[in-house]
Amino acid sequence: MAIAGVFLFGILGALVYIALRFRSRDGMAEPRPIYGNLRLEAWWTAIPLALLVVVFVVMVGAVRDETSIASNALEITLVGHQWWWEFRYPDNAIAANELHVPVGRQVRLNLLSADVVHNFWVPELAGKEQMIPGQNNVWTFTAEKAGTYDGACSEFCGAQHGWMRLTVIADAPADFARWLAAQKQAPVNISSSTAPLQLYATNACGGCHTIQGVSDGKVAPDLTHVGSRTTIGAGVLTNTPENMVRWMKDPQAIKPGSLMPNFHFSDEQARQMAAFLEGLK
Ligand code: CUA
Repeated sequence: MAIAGVFLFGILGALVYIALRFRSRDGMAEPRPIYGNLRLEAWWTAIPLALLVVVFVVMVGAVRDETSIASNALEITLVGHQWWWEFRYPDNAIAANELHVPVGRQVRLNLLSADVVHNFWVPELAGKEQMIPGQNNVWTFTAEKAGTYDGACSEFCGAQHGWMRLTVIADAPADFARWLAAQKQAPVNISSSTAPLQLYATNACGGCHTIQGVSDGKVAPDLTHVGSRTTIGAGVLTNTPENMVRWMKDPQAIKPGSLMPNFHFSDEQARQMAAFLEGLK
């Protein structure tokens, strides 16, 4: 910016000065034509060339730094689905829609898709990269500051493309380790809720969803720790008990076209299911 600024104002200043100083006046003769000046032309070729060479050398180093993968990078596989995100951590820890990462450690993403082309986009952290069926795109970023970063799918992928949001949560390394360990555990209070578990079984929820120790469906978000997430349906609702009841009552009214069908739960059943799901921490 500084170098470009010098040239911008230098050239504009010279232009204004020359236009005023040498403007045509009454009674002036025709100016002398000039047919080239070899020395001048050599200089104004050499200077930009030198600048570009310097920029090129600096850029090669920067690109190498940006694309290199650290030996201690955390590898996470992201799978785009219509319309939610699946995150596979090492040792079979699975999460959805909320990507926890440790602060200060490089993250190496394997970007995949289960259906159509999606696009991983977390503007504050990581730029954009496509998620293409049958192709493994690798993408890296490092969260330098703890906090929450909003992201979204940025390639049109169907009716609910707009509700394919994700949240990246950058945790201090110790918090991240605790979170990851918790993801590998079955939810704590699962045995105490028999009525909702029967609803879960009779409606074949487990055909699509995984709850560790209960079911292992793979086409829909893992629900093992759904109660600890901040949103429902990849961002369409904030995760509150009332919203979970609404979602249970009629997901199609909230996210039309999503693969989550309306099970026509009664109010009581929806409340039981919501309480059960909210308890999965
Ligand atoms: Cu996925 Cu747009």
